[in-house]
Amino acid sequence: MADKWDSSLYEDRHSFVWKAAAGLVDLLDPKPGERILDLGCGTGQLTAQIAERGAEVLGIDSSVSMVAQARQNYPKMKFALADARNFEVQGHFDAVFSNAALHWVLEPEAAIRSMSRALRPGGRLALEFGGLGNISRIMAAIESVLRPAGYKAQHTWYFPSIGEYGALLERNGFRVLLGHNFPRWSKLEHPERGMREWIEMFCGAYFEDVPKGAQATLLTEIEERLRPELHLDGFWHADYRRLRVHAEKESCQGLG
Ligand code: BEZ
Repeated sequence: MADKWDSSLYEDRHSFVWKAAAGLVDLLDPKPGERILDLGCGTGQLTAQIAERGAEVLGIDSSVSMVAQARQNYPKMKFALADARNFEVQGHFDAVFSNAALHWVLEPEAAIRSMSRALRPGGRLALEFGGLGNISRIMAAIESVLRPAGYKAQHTWYFPSIGEYGALLERNGFRVLLGHNFPRWSKLEHPERGMREWIEMFCGAYFEDVPKGAQATLLTEIEERLRPELHLDGFWHADYRRLRVHAEKESCQGLG
């Protein structure tokens, strides 16, 4: 499969993705000597923060370009190419950490099973990704421009509610300690081109059947629909809602 990620553009313009999630590392609370798996590590910045706290971390990502950039950024750390739906690891980890990755996985239960296989009994999950309502304004604007123009306008994200995701975890042997769906609007880097650059970086699936030559005009129309709500104080914002989850793998099903 072609790699949809441009890791240089991601680092250059979208660093808010890992800067905003520093609190998730606190929720993970990595301890010296623990083995932690960072699922969907991107270019490795949060993997490195976890390592700075003394844990032994393996970062995995399904993008060749992201893994290559992570290795270049942090040559002493371990990164590997892996698919969230079916990865296998050697030995067991104390925790799985994941930021802004799991909404790209359209088979969530397969990912939960992979995470469970990687964990020791009692091991924990600290996860954050797009929850129900995530980028609802952006999605509505894209769809309201592309569909009347005859395009399919289909996205490839999974933004579950707490109830839905919590039930999937419980069905697969996890005890949910915390589930939180909260807004975290994020300021985009460029005052004028920010929304266009964000859409170009992340919304490729929506534009799959749109000829290249037609894209610029459609993007301008989308921007104009979004401007009154999402261009605030001189900058574009993405209307993110995060789903943050803390859970532990049952040591002994049904007890304690
Ligand atoms: C997110 O982090 O919520 C997200 C990023 C890009 C596209 C869709 C969602």
